[in-house]
Amino acid sequence: MHDDWTWSYESYDPAEERLRESLCAVGNGYLVTRGAAPECTADGTHYPGTYAAGVYNRLSTDIANSRVENECLVNLPNWLALTFRVDRGPWFGPDTADLLEYHQYLDLRRALLVRRVRFRDRDGRTTRVVQRRFAHMRLPNVCALEVTVVAEDWSGRLEFRSGIDGGVDNGLVERYRDLPRKHLDLLGARALSDCSVLLEMCTNQSRIPVAMAARNTLYHGEHPVEAEYLLVDEGSWIGHDIAIDMREGQVVTVEKTVTLSTGRDRAISEPAVEAARWLPRLGRFDTLLESHVLAWTQLWDRFHIELEHRPDELRVLRLHLLHLLQTVSPNTTELDAGVPARGLHGEAYRGHILWDELFVFPLLNLRLPALTRSLLRYRYRRLPEAVQAAREEGHHGAMYPWQSGSDGREESQRLHLNPRSGRWIPDPTRLQRHIGLAIAHNTWQYYQATGDREFLTHYGTEMLVQIARFFADLTSYDRARDRYVIRGVMGPDEFHSRYPDAQSDGIDNNAYTNVLTVWTVLRAADALRAMPALARTELMERLHLRPEELHRWDDISRKMFVPFHADGVISQFEGYGQLAELDWAAYRKRYRNIQRLDRILEAEGDDVNRYQAAKQADVLMLFYLLSADELGPLFKRLGYQLEHDTIPRTIDYYLARTSHGSTLSAVVHAWVLARANRDRALEFFRRALESDVTDIQGGTTPEGIHLAAMAGSVDLLQRCFSGLETRGDRLLLNPYWPQPLGVLELSLRYREHPLVLRISENRVDVAAGAGMQRAIEIACRGQLARLHPGSTVHFPL
Ligand code: BGC
Repeated sequence: MHDDWTWSYESYDPAEERLRESLCAVGNGYLVTRGAAPECTADGTHYPGTYAAGVYNRLSTDIANSRVENECLVNLPNWLALTFRVDRGPWFGPDTADLLEYHQYLDLRRALLVRRVRFRDRDGRTTRVVQRRFAHMRLPNVCALEVTVVAEDWSGRLEFRSGIDGGVDNGLVERYRDLPRKHLDLLGARALSDCSVLLEMCTNQSRIPVAMAARNTLYHGEHPVEAEYLLVDEGSWIGHDIAIDMREGQVVTVEKTVTLSTGRDRAISEPAVEAARWLPRLGRFDTLLESHVLAWTQLWDRFHIELEHRPDELRVLRLHLLHLLQTVSPNTTELDAGVPARGLHGEAYRGHILWDELFVFPLLNLRLPALTRSLLRYRYRRLPEAVQAAREEGHHGAMYPWQSGSDGREESQRLHLNPRSGRWIPDPTRLQRHIGLAIAHNTWQYYQATGDREFLTHYGTEMLVQIARFFADLTSYDRARDRYVIRGVMGPDEFHSRYPDAQSDGIDNNAYTNVLTVWTVLRAADALRAMPALARTELMERLHLRPEELHRWDDISRKMFVPFHADGVISQFEGYGQLAELDWAAYRKRYRNIQRLDRILEAEGDDVNRYQAAKQADVLMLFYLLSADELGPLFKRLGYQLEHDTIPRTIDYYLARTSHGSTLSAVVHAWVLARANRDRALEFFRRALESDVTDIQGGTTPEGIHLAAMAGSVDLLQRCFSGLETRGDRLLLNPYWPQPLGVLELSLRYREHPLVLRISENRVDVAAGAGMQRAIEIACRGQLARLHPGSTVHFPL
């Protein structure tokens, strides 16, 4: 099956199983369950994992002579657990059975995972199995698994074993093997009825109760089957053995319906009560599937995308959108949850939230703005923590953490393991203060896309002001230069955490941080101006924001220092140009894959800090976030002249010195090359498409998807090649459409208008759905049109 709505595999490959588990996960924004085989438990090949948004637990241990604390997204009990045997033979599993046919596919339209297996057992019996599963998109606490068994050429006693396995821990990531992994304590397990069970557990530090209930019912087609149920209660594993007699050719189906509730749910009494109360109310698998599919149909309407004649790219783009919406969905708006960098699909980065939402929000803003709003409120709720963090560092304003989990404190690890050398080394990545700038950017972009002044008034401006205040406070005035400088930070390029041979961490005047600081103080001032007068006065009083502080911001916005190399290229940070050049060809030859040059060099006893080498886009992030129209005036205000070739020369310079050790890098490089070098841009676009499906980093996708690259790849079509911007109360289009991509059609919403955009090499059409909205202005390469509900505008290119 190879249509553009199906992600499929035609055979079983144990070596690829964990990758497939990540790529075939099912979820609904409340929880995600990896695409693990129901018959399997965690072993070298398989890793069943279920994670619920915001369910974290904190444990500490001693590593390399220091006490380290880690907060992890908790792997919850495995609700899939289901296998079977015939006449007391061995339990079925893909690693032991003689597989005759094997086919697994994710139906992207319906967010339904299907697995079809035909096998022969050691006694020569041939059995066919079809499994289907989903995590309900409208009923976020509900999941379902259906297993159909066909006795092709045998008669005998068929016994299913189906339950909930609470004996799980966080063991997916090999690098974390020295960290404690047991996060759940058993509270209790019991039968709820003849065919249903309940397991209650609790996270052992954050004290979040987790309850899961499962019901197993058997059918011959439409008819319920009388079967013999035997309770299996093995402590944290509870379920049933269910036996029936089968005749040759007979078909039987088990429907396993599951409810999950945690102490973080709203509108509940208590999780166990909730899970138990809802279970009997749920209908049959197909009935649940129907409402699940309806929810997805409506979602796909909003996220509609077509690429004519490019089915391979289209399939991956849809897979990316699917995983985006399985991680954050309308269900998320009811939660206190952020955007975990690796989805809810695994345990990499321990489920933390970094700056990756910067690459995700542009898709959501134009389709589900209420979702962005709620995800921004995850940050707003943690503003007091960020203010406290700044205070502890002797600063004003809000210092957001590089990695964030439950309560918004800094969750970055202090030490990390280099798997190449086996050494635990200090991890200074928390110095990536620029995370705050990303939050400021996201806040402003959300406002630009939606015009949601209410959000700005109640939450947005306060975040912008506190972030601006922190960065303004981080600057110091360098009298000799008559410029403001920022010392001792890290930019997005994680390869540079300090100067070679320096005693302390941090580099000075990271161009990205400095320029975005200017942008942020300007936007904070804009946000204050955009607020209703009374609310502004109240906010300024509350934050003790006085005119002198605003004057200092203004001064910073005119006198921030930006480092340049002698030839006019923007320097990644002060002194970058003096670092040694790496012999890239030699390293590529020696190691083939040099994405993680930092690890390679450390293992060699060298230090990547010594070289002009970047893991990912750093300076170039400026051209990704800010269009030339914005950047030019910003530099001019600072008294720097951006020559016509400054941007292309800066791009070329860093392109030659980047290892792309982060999947974010391909997205940014495709973006910045789109105008000047379309072929290379397409190369990076394809690389972004491949990030996860081919596990481009060789082993990271099995530990969780890369959500920024997934969303970013779609955004490359949406905003980059189309030149789409929402600025100055207008929708702006400036396509630079690569002809090899054919014709793009996608839907989006701008200021309440449902729009369908069609872009080809020589034409743009924008159609508006019917409605009562006011007409909007659309500008395309100097042509201006007003778009009324129900009408279409065309722009020849
Ligand atoms: C990148 C970060 C990113 C993180 C999570 C790292 O490899 O360097 O920029 O936030 O992955 O995706």
